[in-house]
Amino acid sequence: MSTLTPKTLSPFSFLCNPKSKPLNQNPKFATLNPNPIPNSEPILDSDHKSEYRTERGLKFDTGETFFRHESATGRDLGVLAASLYKKSKGKLRVLDALCGCGIRSLRYLVEADADFVLANDGNVDNRNVITENLSQVERSSGEDPRWAVTLLDANRIMTECYLKRDFYDLIDIDSFGSDSSFLRSAINALRMDGLLYVTSTDGFSSGGRRPQQTLAAYGAYVRPMPYSNELGLRMLIGGVVRVASVMGYRVTPLFSYYSYHGPVFRVMLRVIRGKLPDSRHYGFISYCRDCGNSLEFSWDELGRISCPCNDSKVSMSLVVSGPLWTGPLHDAAYTADMLNLAEEWGWAGSDTRTDLDKLLNIMVAESDPRLPFGFINLDEVASRAKVNSPALKAVVSTLQKEGYAVSRSHIESNALKTNCPMSECIRVAQELQR
Ligand SMILES: C[S@@+](CC[C@H](N)C(=O)[O-])C[C@H]1O[C@@H](n2cnc3c(N)ncnc32)[C@H](O)[C@@H]1O
Ligand SMILES: [Zn+2]
Repeated sequence: MSTLTPKTLSPFSFLCNPKSKPLNQNPKFATLNPNPIPNSEPILDSDHKSEYRTERGLKFDTGETFFRHESATGRDLGVLAASLYKKSKGKLRVLDALCGCGIRSLRYLVEADADFVLANDGNVDNRNVITENLSQVERSSGEDPRWAVTLLDANRIMTECYLKRDFYDLIDIDSFGSDSSFLRSAINALRMDGLLYVTSTDGFSSGGRRPQQTLAAYGAYVRPMPYSNELGLRMLIGGVVRVASVMGYRVTPLFSYYSYHGPVFRVMLRVIRGKLPDSRHYGFISYCRDCGNSLEFSWDELGRISCPCNDSKVSMSLVVSGPLWTGPLHDAAYTADMLNLAEEWGWAGSDTRTDLDKLLNIMVAESDPRLPFGFINLDEVASRAKVNSPALKAVVSTLQKEGYAVSRSHIESNALKTNCPMSECIRVAQELQR
């Protein structure tokens, strides 16, 4: 494999020649800023159209680029996964394909100790901001460059990398809307067993309001369902599964993250050689408006979809979406490792009480393989049971005592993931009311 150097890049690429301004590159960056809150308020510099911020102790300029400080958690999760990858494989090359101001690239370099980061953004006006931000890290270590900047369309840079056999361990696609056009070229440019971090910001589609759009983008016809934001993640994973399987690859999600800011749907996937065995974890999901139960159907059950609450063969009460990913949203071992690393870095732990700590703990709980897709909102349970909404803690402990698998949902605070049917949840809510 050739190493990316300024010379090996396309003549169309813009390569920066940054000033060398070394920064404290200790990956234990938490020591840089003892404040556990990842973001600080921006400081405006009226002379230079600069807008300086700090995230996890790293100072950077967002200038006039697109930047959301609310996406810091998605960046934290990406850095944790990247760092675990580096620790296990001993190397890490990252392609930050839609880098904005380059904050992710900077964090992959400093915090995940990436050997090399290629920071790319299609907007040529972002050049100076990206270059200045990355210049905090010395550009080369010995002979090898640590980072480079290109200003190309993401598909073009990823295709160029693929054609040069210049493969990456982690490719971060922080795109807008439900743009799935980057998936194929990203998988091409990814090293075998590499990590693909993909995004959708299209809440209308996952809410079932644009089924033709989700069909075009992810190959899934998505209808309105009570757990639509989980469907957004499943639609995104399913879209990658579909593109990858055409190319002879298999995909497993390491973690899936929904954030209501945006909204943003983010999924970190491991891509390995081999087609999806049969259609496991890739199928159809139904929700029954009559009884509130959800079921999974495989391709060979199409045409025989019904709900046990209804005698007729075809249940008019059913809403069906798919095909999409029906398997686990997270890899249990990987999320546990991410939590341990976050604790080691002081980002999480019972004494920190950070949102990241809560999020990672819920993700670990959601990884229980006994839990099916979807979640049950306690307001829906209360409305069906004709009682006041029960306390989440009480429902969780009752269901656990009765032997059901239960966890909270990181997507909705008043909901739980469980293998307990809706009728039993209704009974529990009524008993708790007495
Ligand atoms: C959501 S912002 C990136 C934010 C950044 N990753 C962060 O964490 O702050 C999306 C970026 O994609 C860039 N962009 C949009 N379409 C692109 C394309 N086709 N190729 C490359 N970059 C693109 C935009 O200029 C914008 O900076
Ligand atoms: Zn039913």
